[in-house]
Amino acid sequence: EKGYKNVEVFSKEHLAVSLAYDVAQLSNKYTKERGAFTVALSGGSLIKYLRKLVESPYAETIDWAKWHVFWVDERVVPKDHLESNYKLASDGFLSKVPIPNLNVYSIDDSLPPDGAADVYETTLRRLVTSNVIASTNGLPKFDLMLLGMGPDGHVASLFPGHPLLNEDKKWVTFLNDSPKPPPERITFTFPVINASSNVAMVVTGAGKSTAVYTALEDDKKTVVLPVEKVSPIEGELKWYLDKGAASKLFKE
Ligand code: 6PG
Repeated sequence: EKGYKNVEVFSKEHLAVSLAYDVAQLSNKYTKERGAFTVALSGGSLIKYLRKLVESPYAETIDWAKWHVFWVDERVVPKDHLESNYKLASDGFLSKVPIPNLNVYSIDDSLPPDGAADVYETTLRRLVTSNVIASTNGLPKFDLMLLGMGPDGHVASLFPGHPLLNEDKKWVTFLNDSPKPPPERITFTFPVINASSNVAMVVTGAGKSTAVYTALEDDKKTVVLPVEKVSPIEGELKWYLDKGAASKLFKE
């Protein structure tokens, strides 16, 4: 059986346990080294895979006061809307751990969305200047970026064939033509994703198995999926797959 050094396959239960273990380790490492731990969250099922992190024995090893939480992407809806990534994270994760409110950097839902994207980028720049967020080559270097992947291979709100796949100036941008509803979204760009110290790619379900195969194993492919552009320049990428998502791998 083939294997890759940065890909692990779990049962759904063990995936949450392994993620909790790894996130707790990273939290301890960066709070020791830097006095802060910066984490960027995605939406989707990712949040439910943080469920072990908020429980014993992991939760009590973490210095939650040092956490600073950001969003990789957000849908342009009010923060209390069912489709809001903020609400998803707030209900499923943030409400269960003592992260100070001041350290939770949600995307402003009261501004026009292009303005909200600019304001979010300005917030990141301020936090880089004050060294809350580390930096590299003039970019924010998140300690941990937690990503999911759609069945089409999208990450963040960066979709196949979209011109924003090549955005190289903005850190945070607005789009109004997402192929997956809602069409209006705000998202980090690849330069920011790839400046991260650690990227966790959490992908579950057989519906993702073709995209996972294309990204990791298909050597005859003619397309590059957005997920394949995730390649931290100075950091580590680790894939957390369940058996369904990995079901087309390791066949030869
Ligand atoms: C969105 C979703 C989306 C999601 C992936 C993976 O903004 O539409 O958040 O980007 O993260 O499609 O989702 P699942 O992990 O739930 O399959």
